[in-house]
Amino acid sequence: MGCHLTIKKDSPEIQKLAGFAQQKKPIPWARIYKLPRTVYFSHEVHYKRAKVDCSACHGPVSERDFLGQEKSIAMADCMECHDRYKASNDCNLCHDSH
Ligand code: HEC
Ligand code: HEC
Ligand code: HEC
Repeated sequence: MGCHLTIKKDSPEIQKLAGFAQQKKPIPWARIYKLPRTVYFSHEVHYKRAKVDCSACHGPVSERDFLGQEKSIAMADCMECHDRYKASNDCNLCHDSH
């Protein structure tokens, strides 16, 4: 809400979020992209360090009013991109206990 107090605050969907924040209630979030707990993944590494755009893994979300799964987060797709970027594909990279 630090951001959405000023940005897009007239949107009905943002107003719903503001309502939950005001009442200090958890947001009933319907997860779309969810990895098994055995897989390690960091947004920070991909976005900040590798500079991969959100749309590479989530599709053109900025053009959508409602979200659905548009991209696959299956192991083969993680590895296909790691190959392309010459990033590691060691099993331990994603399956280490960390
Ligand atoms: C390299 C691929 C990749 C990139 C790039 C990426 N994400 Fe994700 N995102 C994922 C994966 C994988 C998950 C599921 C993570 C989990 O279950 O632990 C996820 C989960 C999410 C979720 C929760 C999803 C849900 O269904 O509730 C949000 C929100 C999200 N990402 C936003 C972003 C934003 C914003 C960016 C850009 C700043 C971004 N992501 C960039 C792969 C990516
Ligand atoms: C669009 C390309 C792309 C996709 C898709 C992608 N990755 Fe990556 N990933 C990268 C790149 C590039 C790096 C190397 C980042 C660096 O070290 O600069 C990386 C690094 C990583 C690392 C190392 C993190 C660290 O701490 O050094 C892990 C773990 C990882 N990815 C997991 C995943 C998983 C799990 C998925 C699938 C759900 C995935 N990645 C999908 C591009 C991608
Ligand atoms: C870049 C990330 C990444 C690398 C590298 C990777 N995996 Fe995975 N792995 C995943 C993701 C994401 C899933 C869950 C989604 C799926 O099943 O496709 C998964 C699922 C699995 C599963 C299914 C069981 C489970 O825990 O859900 C097995 C078994 C597995 N991986 C074995 C391996 C082996 C063996 C290697 C090395 C040859 C490897 N993985 C390398 C990302 C990776």
